Amino acid sequence: MFKIVRREEMAEGTVILNEIEAPLIARKAKPGQFVILKANEEGERVPLTMAETDSEKGTITIIYMVVGKSTAIFRDLKVGDEYQDVIGPLGKATHLENVGNVVCVGGGTGVAVLHPITRGLKDVGNHVTCIIGARNKDLLILEEQMKAASHDLRVCTDDGSYGRSGFVTEELKDILDSDKDIKLVVAIGPVPMMKFVSKITKEYNVKTIVSLNPIMVDGTGMCGGCRVSVGGETKFACVDGPEFDGHEVDYDELAKRLQAYSEDEKKCYEDYCA
Ligand code: FES
Repeated sequence: MFKIVRREEMAEGTVILNEIEAPLIARKAKPGQFVILKANEEGERVPLTMAETDSEKGTITIIYMVVGKSTAIFRDLKVGDEYQDVIGPLGKATHLENVGNVVCVGGGTGVAVLHPITRGLKDVGNHVTCIIGARNKDLLILEEQMKAASHDLRVCTDDGSYGRSGFVTEELKDILDSDKDIKLVVAIGPVPMMKFVSKITKEYNVKTIVSLNPIMVDGTGMCGGCRVSVGGETKFACVDGPEFDGHEVDYDELAKRLQAYSEDEKKCYEDYCA
């Protein structure tokens, strides 16, 4: 069993942070890897990329948006409660190397996934500019942490309530226009955001990495639930990813597969909340 030792609510209670005792995972995990959690015996297996690990304390931190029944069950766990299963670390770690100037782009809870990757890219010597965005100021997460993890933080909100008014892609375009020496862009967030970031960086011929979070079941490459098309080939995000070349991903297919169970999920969530 995996005990929750810290719990925080963010973004008006729609996003939850859980720090969980998981010493073996904390010792091995690297930026970009994920875990699969199950709250109880009948629970759904939910994949979440780790936002933080502390090998000395023996804890991992996950940050998730409450979007359905399973994440609502997670939300209702308090400090001292336990997850029945936490499996990991899974997936390939981010390749961290000094390439020069890097831009990290995060949207929504993708910012949580981006945080350890940003810090890792800075630690190996890159100059890291970071752009984070949300629909409005209240939904923005981890601003202070991202400021500390990067050299230069830019903030965008869709409604203009904080930072630049507009999408992260507009800020990215301005940076690419003003600095011709960007070597790498890392984009993590909603599928449309990653799609449009990749579209822009392709025009500028800048290598782009995205982290995908498709539906997963076993997390070990056996079930095929997490399949995505990358460069015309089928890849399993759980073992081949979760990070892929952003210019090669079929985002429309990914978005369609993510929507496959949305009606069932909505009904389960409504029944759980009733
Ligand atoms: Fe089953 Fe990836 S989750 S193959």
